[in-house]
Amino acid sequence: MNKWGAATFLGTVFLGFGIFLVVCLGSIDKVSSGPMSSKEKLGKWVWQKHGCVECHCLFGNGGYLGPDLTVITRKMPIERLKRFFSEPPVMRPAKRRKHPELDEAKADAMIAYLKFTAKINTQGWPPQPGYVLKKNSGETKGE
Ligand code: HEC
Repeated sequence: MNKWGAATFLGTVFLGFGIFLVVCLGSIDKVSSGPMSSKEKLGKWVWQKHGCVECHCLFGNGGYLGPDLTVITRKMPIERLKRFFSEPPVMRPAKRRKHPELDEAKADAMIAYLKFTAKINTQGWPPQPGYVLKKNSGETKGE
């Protein structure tokens, strides 16, 4: 290989590696929402302790009785969320069973945690408006 051949080869290798690095760093930046604060961590603990996952999903993982809560803080006003946790309603399919009640500190931590999950780039999860069941046909159709 002559001098120019070697220079072209090395140039291409370095350029390729440079592009690779830029793309990697760029994609890390898109998914990361920074480290969790201690309040957000407390909220995650409340989520686990009260078994929210039995009935709700985060990022599509969990129970399907209640709605997916990944981006709930973008859909429900924070004041309404707070009231929902401090004066929980009776759950719709049940006659008497109430939603878990959280004291103010736990409700605040839960909201902080749910705000954290809402910041993570989920590429559009949960899908909106999703699929609906056509009455009596047993088929699903996308809207
Ligand atoms: C036993 C099942 C169950 C558990 C456990 C549960 N939920 Fe729910 N949750 C539901 C159901 C069902 C609904 C829908 C109620 C309705 O529409 O009346 C709901 C609704 C909600 C809503 C309102 C969503 C909306 O779009 O209106 C929020 C917020 C919520 N739950 C948060 C939580 C959190 C946080 C926990 C844990 C502390 C939790 N839930 C535990 C079943 C549950």
